[in-house]
Amino acid sequence: MARVGFLGTGEIASQMVRGLAGQGHAIMVSDRNADVARSLAGDHIEVSIASNAEVVRESDIVILCLMAPVARTVLADLPWRADLAVISVMVDVPLSDLARLCAPATDIALTIPLPFIATGGCPLPVYPASPALQALFGDRNPVLPVPSEMALNAHFAATAMCAPMIAMVKSGSDWLAEVTGDKAGAEAYVAALIGGFISALAAEEDDRFDRALQSLATEGGLNSTLRRHMDVAGAPKALQDGMDGLRGRLGLPDRG
Ligand SMILES: NC(=O)c1ccc[n+]([C@@H]2O[C@H](COP(=O)([O-])OP(=O)(O)OC[C@H]3O[C@@H](n4cnc5c(N)ncnc54)[C@H](OP(=O)(O)O)[C@@H]3O)[C@@H](O)[C@H]2O)c1
Repeated sequence: MARVGFLGTGEIASQMVRGLAGQGHAIMVSDRNADVARSLAGDHIEVSIASNAEVVRESDIVILCLMAPVARTVLADLPWRADLAVISVMVDVPLSDLARLCAPATDIALTIPLPFIATGGCPLPVYPASPALQALFGDRNPVLPVPSEMALNAHFAATAMCAPMIAMVKSGSDWLAEVTGDKAGAEAYVAALIGGFISALAAEEDDRFDRALQSLATEGGLNSTLRRHMDVAGAPKALQDGMDGLRGRLGLPDRG
């Protein structure tokens, strides 16, 4: 069991704490975002609240959940040690900067949790491989090593699909509710429909999306009719264009 410290006590830190609680670790969160910190400590007996310096001093593994500009301001002054494992979930702070800000720690990895890590099943791309990440979250979440920092950053871009996808699904749910007059029923149905489809695909092998689309491609069917409409409207291209727009920020090469 490990002593795990979180710097930053906002949205993603609180969901990671909830996903980690109850497994015998001692968890310390920084004394920012007092309401969230208090609620985590109130809900989980193993969670305590401390200053940033104490979090680093008293931990075996430190998880960085700060916004990038804050990280650049506060990290360098903390009492880092060579034997600490550091896991950053922060976009916009490359490994080279972390090596400088967290020296003499060298076991530093980047990963990308999403809020549903609280309940498990959250894919965790990681670079470089992190025994600490595997030990803390690997039992409940698939840890997916990627070959480079650039690949990790490309996965950051992929996570940006979540909001547009949910907005698209909400739009369809709102349409259904307008016809049926039952907003709650429409949301429950659409969430179960799309969630069921996507989670079944997660368990499949290569080319899962192509196979699924083929199974929905009956000529003249409802799915193929709506899909053609969306293609003509440019929805798939708009998504990829938007992801291309994130390349510069994430240090990814321009499209060939
Ligand atoms: N949210 C996500 O789904 C998600 C997913 C993957 C990665 N991330 C990454 O996680 C990081 C945090 O995102 P978030 O959404 O969790 O943001 P957030 O909710 O705004 O949390 C940021 C936290 O940092 C705290 N903070 C500010 N100044 C601090 C300081 N000097 N010392 C210690 N803590 C300080 C804030 O406390 P106060 O409120 O008291 O200022 C807040 O608790 C970002 O780098 C983001 O890229 C987020």
